[in-house]
Amino acid sequence: MKYILAPSILAADFKRLGEEINATEDNGAEYLHFDVMDGIFVPSISFGMPVLKSIKRCTNQLMDTHLMITEPIRYIEAFADAGADLITIHLEACKDAHAAIAKIREYGLKAGLSIKPDTPVSELEDYIEEVDMVLIMSVYPGFGGQKFIDNSFEKIRAVRAMADARGLETDIQVDGGIYLDNVGQVLNAGANIIVAGSAIFKGEPAENTKQFMEILKKYE
Ligand code: DX5
Ligand code: ZN
Repeated sequence: MKYILAPSILAADFKRLGEEINATEDNGAEYLHFDVMDGIFVPSISFGMPVLKSIKRCTNQLMDTHLMITEPIRYIEAFADAGADLITIHLEACKDAHAAIAKIREYGLKAGLSIKPDTPVSELEDYIEEVDMVLIMSVYPGFGGQKFIDNSFEKIRAVRAMADARGLETDIQVDGGIYLDNVGQVLNAGANIIVAGSAIFKGEPAENTKQFMEILKKYE
């Protein structure tokens, strides 16, 4: 199992965005987490395809696109064209998540499925065989800088058990409120892809990335 850091640019300094992204790439972050919000599925609005397209030209990181939007199936083609490599949709946002996942696959991309903190893990059962990654939200989606919700540990363990029981090597990503002092617990619970926004971009992104990578390397 690969252990991967996915810095979330939601917390970046946008006037120095390219520089800050490169600081994370140069220090070992293999994914770049790109949070798309529509103001309907979540209260806030972030950024979309044109920004992704520009970023794609400045980094070789895998574009990990987290769609916090209603009926994401409508935008899969647009994000595929803009340069997404992995598209994660929310189960709660879809009328037909099977169809949305199939559409991500049609474009040859990795597919991820996410659930919000109040959605039980059992709802993933019908989908886990169809996705490369499950994203457990450890905060209510919509904003960076929130506190990690502790019942997420239980949910991570349950998803890992669900994957193991089916002989699947599903990636488990966790997003929200992860810092150097709790990332070890998240990994111990069974996650292997760590999203961190504030913990990377508040302060010195290069140094913060290095410190996260030191911890992740111990799990290889
Ligand atoms: C929240 C986003 C997260 C956010 C995490 O809706 O999905 O990716 O950027 O931010 P931190 O790491 O600051 O909690
Ligand atoms: Zn996210």
